[in-house]
Amino acid sequence: MCGIVGYIGENNANDVLLTGLKKLEYRGYDSCGIATIYNDKFQIHKTTNRIDSLVSCIQDTEKSNIGLGHTRWATHGGVCEKNAHPHTDNKDKFVVVHNGIIENYIELKELLKDKGYEFYSDTDTEVIPNLIDLNYDGNLLEATKKTVDMLEGSYALGIMKKDNPNEIIATRKNSPLVIGVGENENFIASDYSAILKYTNKIGILENDEFAVLKKDEVSFYDKDLNKKDVAIKNIDTKDFDVEKNGYEHFMLKEINENSITAKKTLDTYLINGKLKFDINLSDEEIKNIKHIHIVACGTAMHAGLNGKYIIEKFTRIPVNVEVASEFRYKNPILDKDDFVIFISQSGETADTIACLQLVKDRNIKHMSMVNVKESTIDRMSDNVIYTKAGAEIAVASTKAYIAQVILIDLFGIYLAQKRGLYDDEELNNILRSLIEIPNKIQEVLEEDKEYIDYANKISNKRDVFYLGRGLDYYVALEGSLKLKEISYIHSEATQFGELKHGPIALIEDDTPAIVMATSKNLLDKTISNIKEIKARGANVLVLTTLKDFPSNVADKIILLPEVNENLSPLLTMIPLQLIAYHVTVNKGLDVDKPRNLAKSVTVE
Ligand code: F6R
Repeated sequence: MCGIVGYIGENNANDVLLTGLKKLEYRGYDSCGIATIYNDKFQIHKTTNRIDSLVSCIQDTEKSNIGLGHTRWATHGGVCEKNAHPHTDNKDKFVVVHNGIIENYIELKELLKDKGYEFYSDTDTEVIPNLIDLNYDGNLLEATKKTVDMLEGSYALGIMKKDNPNEIIATRKNSPLVIGVGENENFIASDYSAILKYTNKIGILENDEFAVLKKDEVSFYDKDLNKKDVAIKNIDTKDFDVEKNGYEHFMLKEINENSITAKKTLDTYLINGKLKFDINLSDEEIKNIKHIHIVACGTAMHAGLNGKYIIEKFTRIPVNVEVASEFRYKNPILDKDDFVIFISQSGETADTIACLQLVKDRNIKHMSMVNVKESTIDRMSDNVIYTKAGAEIAVASTKAYIAQVILIDLFGIYLAQKRGLYDDEELNNILRSLIEIPNKIQEVLEEDKEYIDYANKISNKRDVFYLGRGLDYYVALEGSLKLKEISYIHSEATQFGELKHGPIALIEDDTPAIVMATSKNLLDKTISNIKEIKARGANVLVLTTLKDFPSNVADKIILLPEVNENLSPLLTMIPLQLIAYHVTVNKGLDVDKPRNLAKSVTVE
């Protein structure tokens, strides 16, 4: 959600900024812009088109060695050039790129208007360069500090002064920003993927800190502008593949990486049949856990539901799965013996971060599962375990979900082993089955023709139902989210038994219904439910792992490899991801960058 990249060095800033912005495209945006300095003048170009179209805009600009680039995801004010960043002050002395939301911008606008400032955009951001101008007394860093002291809300900022092409100021609060350190060049970026082409030496700016970037040095300052040392870390780029590698879309590439992702996550935590988690939670503390809370958003929350299933079943600890945007505002009931698990692919989701802060403030034991190392959640959490999905670029999460489900399953079994309530042999069986999962995922992937055929049948439909009981319902939720977020077809996930309490009214002739049926115990119930919707005209696809699923109850049955029932989501989810993908391709939509969505939801 919004992206910042900044450069100061010896190379052509436009080239670096465009490359960086392209890498940040995946976060989601609806306009973009670049500012460089030449001969004490800003050269600013903005567009509501894709980043590629900036290339022609900047063709005639003079080469510069300093600049700021931005991708905007509209919050305050519509999508138009005047609202796109960078923004300048009235006197055109300072230029700013901003991620986040300034909550008190109306008040600040009034204050500035009283002092004669005028506003040309509808954004909250435009107050910032004008406040810097108001506060400027010969020192940009001090003016920035005075300005951010007046701001309420969240921000990551890159700032330049027109007549000083030797300095970029950066600061942040509750919105990510990293500093890249190179040879005679330095960078700022919302996330390090934007600058990895140039350097893997990264310094993390913490909340309320400042950085002053010159071509050959970076100085860090705390909130009171005392100089401080910040460790510069080498980011391991081994798993950071951000190219399409011959696939038409990132989403397709990432779905096809499900098997390798599963294997990497398993290999990291399941070593010679033994689970190993390097976390600070003693066996005694595990035995004493009263409740587990899993807090996450969207797809990560759906992965958390799988965790609820496994953990409750094998540890008998009650698990409450909560959407972060609800948890943070409900004054959650947390006991000193509770344990909170946060799940986040990006590690930058604003609501999840706020919940983590709340849990930390209350001194409650917690652990996070993240995919992006050095992300905010990674750095803030007392305990972290990692999904090994590598870079996930498509906005719709696919391989990260599979990794999250595997990791929460492994962790659930770990807790169960420590609690010792459950038959060890059954737990070992699940672990053995998990080892077979990567190959089984690969088998499911290879049946893509089946999913293409089905996608062709539903691509022009208005509504699609996703139905299941137990674990199958959790998969239905995620399958439904995948379809609606990228194909814009309305879809709905319902617990199959609940359908007749209302939603069945929507089933009519030829309504597509995708049923997950993986539980032997619930097979009869599921078949009865299928008959009920067939009687009302539904066109039913069944995804099942049960060899003896009757062949005559549905319009189409896709038989997936047999699997331990506790792990079925790891297989049933694959066709659902591919069906959503193919439907979206059929509709000619932008698969990797669906409208209105952002990869990192860094504002609440
Ligand atoms: C959907 C999707 C989102 C994210 C959600 C949480 O495909 O990607 O629902 O799962 O925004 O993001 P993270 O996991 O980065 O906290």
